[in-house]
Amino acid sequence: MSARSAALPIDGRRFLIVGGASLVGSTTADLLLARGAGRVVLFDNFSFGSRDAVRHLVDDQRVTIVSGDVMRLPDLLAATEGVDGVLHLAAMMTISMDRDPWAGLDVNVRGAQNVIEACVVRGVGKLVFASSNAVYGYGPGVAGDLVEDTPFHAAGAPPAAILYGASKIVGEQLCRQAHQKRGLDYVVLRYSTVYGERQHYRAANALYIVETHDRIKAGLRPRVIGDGAETKHFVYVGDLARANAMAFEADASDVAVNVSGPEPVTTLQLVELVCELTGTSLRPEHVAPEAGKVRLTSGGAFRIDHAAAERAIGWRPEVGMREGLRRLLAWRDQAGAPAAAAE
Ligand SMILES: NC(=O)c1ccc[n+]([C@@H]2O[C@H](COP(=O)([O-])OP(=O)(O)OC[C@H]3O[C@@H](n4cnc5c(N)ncnc54)[C@H](O)[C@@H]3O)[C@@H](O)[C@H]2O)c1
Repeated sequence: MSARSAALPIDGRRFLIVGGASLVGSTTADLLLARGAGRVVLFDNFSFGSRDAVRHLVDDQRVTIVSGDVMRLPDLLAATEGVDGVLHLAAMMTISMDRDPWAGLDVNVRGAQNVIEACVVRGVGKLVFASSNAVYGYGPGVAGDLVEDTPFHAAGAPPAAILYGASKIVGEQLCRQAHQKRGLDYVVLRYSTVYGERQHYRAANALYIVETHDRIKAGLRPRVIGDGAETKHFVYVGDLARANAMAFEADASDVAVNVSGPEPVTTLQLVELVCELTGTSLRPEHVAPEAGKVRLTSGGAFRIDHAAAERAIGWRPEVGMREGLRRLLAWRDQAGAPAAAAE
């Protein structure tokens, strides 16, 4: 007897991206369409995402944009009808969780539950769930190599970051339970901080990039918090879109893997790289952390290991920080970056 395959090829298949009008959703939609997807439905309540992020897709006959809310199961049941694969992205991250933890927990937990329920009821072939390296937590306990069984650290970290990480842990476990009890095939991808074209102001760590660029464009010296030795680990959005597609295609299920860029950077290296790429003569100034602004700290240098992603779905990152930043800055210069106040 041959084991059932969990592989979902892209060509000719129908996909739903929940939270599709987003940084990750728009780039993944581009890739799925380029790989011959038969239909891509972008489902979003446009609370954060924008029609601008998906405007370039509307002329493609295979694309449908649906206004809906993950808090409403009927919206999801309608959107999942006839769908082969679902990518679940809709969520509130740390900064939004800090502003409104009530809504954040609703969207991240009940929203995930509703998406899973719709997938099971509609017999969706595979769910790819966007988790985060926030499942390892923040604060003094986080250092060294972060692998998939690294425990969650909460002590000494900002509550909003822990609520966000914990909500992603709950989402992952809801996927596992739906697999065990109801046979849903799923892959959890734990994204590190995403950056790239269509970058927004909602991810705390990516602010180091966009705020540096904004200050340089305004003729102001870029800022480095403290000595700048803090580690950050990013992943380029195009690499991440490939990981989403490969998670569908691979014969993998019931697994959670890290998706991170080639190497981590320090915040000082990051700011210096942005300076170098813009050609500015402005030199960074070191400043104290701003009161009231959420900062994602660690206990020392760390690296988010992505070897398990290669084993499970055959993925590894291809775009290094310098090239990814060059593409992001070029997009911001050409497209006219969104104003921070508008987010
Ligand atoms: N951006 C990062 O650095 C990062 C890092 C790790 C994990 N992630 C995860 O990746 C996913 C996508 O991130 P992104 O940067 O593209 O985020 P984003 O904020 O651009 O996208 C989230 C989308 O979900 C939509 N949404 C929010 N609430 C909704 C609701 N109730 N119903 C329907 N849609 C709703 C928003 O309008 C938005 O388009 C999220 O799940 C996030 O937690 C992101």
